[in-house]
Amino acid sequence: MNLLDGKLVSAKIKEDIKKEAAAFTAQSGRKPHLVAILVGNDGGSETYVASKMRNCELVGFESTNIRYDVDITEDELISKIKEINQDPEIDGLIVQLPLPKHIDPEKITETIDYRKDVDGFHPINLGRMQRNLPCFIPATPYGIMLMLEYYGIDTAGKKAVIVGRSNIVGAPMSILLARNSNPGNCTVTLTHSRTANLKEEVLAGDIVVAAIGRKQFVTADMVKEGAIVIDVGINREESTETKSGFKLYGDVDFDEVSKVASWITPVPGGVGLMTIVGLLKNTLEAAKGTVY
Ligand code: GUN
Repeated sequence: MNLLDGKLVSAKIKEDIKKEAAAFTAQSGRKPHLVAILVGNDGGSETYVASKMRNCELVGFESTNIRYDVDITEDELISKIKEINQDPEIDGLIVQLPLPKHIDPEKITETIDYRKDVDGFHPINLGRMQRNLPCFIPATPYGIMLMLEYYGIDTAGKKAVIVGRSNIVGAPMSILLARNSNPGNCTVTLTHSRTANLKEEVLAGDIVVAAIGRKQFVTADMVKEGAIVIDVGINREESTETKSGFKLYGDVDFDEVSKVASWITPVPGGVGLMTIVGLLKNTLEAAKGTVY
């Protein structure tokens, strides 16, 4: 088993981003600027947004976290987004999900100017991604592609099985791995809660991407010998063992699956760190105006 080491790869790519950010700042007289909107106080979201902001600072970006109480109206949120859309000093805007029930995430996603949509959730970015056109690729799938690229893993012709069809990970991942690109050129199966014979489907995968949000869901008996296993899960459980009071579990039973896999990502230290890299790269591209 070989480790797909998110710590190593994210550190290397962040060094490159830092250099590019410095060059951008020297040329333009301002830093790339990411704004993150956080509504309410979901524990996971708080942690993720804090990490995004901290990493922006680390690579020389400006970052702003705008926080709202859980009872902000949809209209108030929309008018703030429209204001940011018009602000030439802000390059990227993300609205952390999930949102409270009274706010429609689709409406919010479509309000964000697609040229500032560094989450890559806007339908224009999704459509452009499918056509291999300039776009923002959702951060987690983007980070996974960067990881496969870093390790020089040849994906062409392989059977990729994705477990979970979320807008954030599973669905865009299926497009990226099927695209005529490198990494890519896979034969993709996108499985979900209504898939029949899930175990057989996953067993057929040369590449398995687990993105269902269920602790240790993918077990060794579901994985083909020599498969490449990508674990997207970040399942938080309260624990007295760690300083933070939480312990993270992946969607893959790492201890057992690592005995059959050829390559595998750990949790923590795998995909989560690469997600940040995807977001930082998108923000830099937004500042440069690559997506227009
Ligand atoms: N919630 C979980 N993942 C993400 C993400 O990548 N972006 C946003 N905006 N919210 C999320």
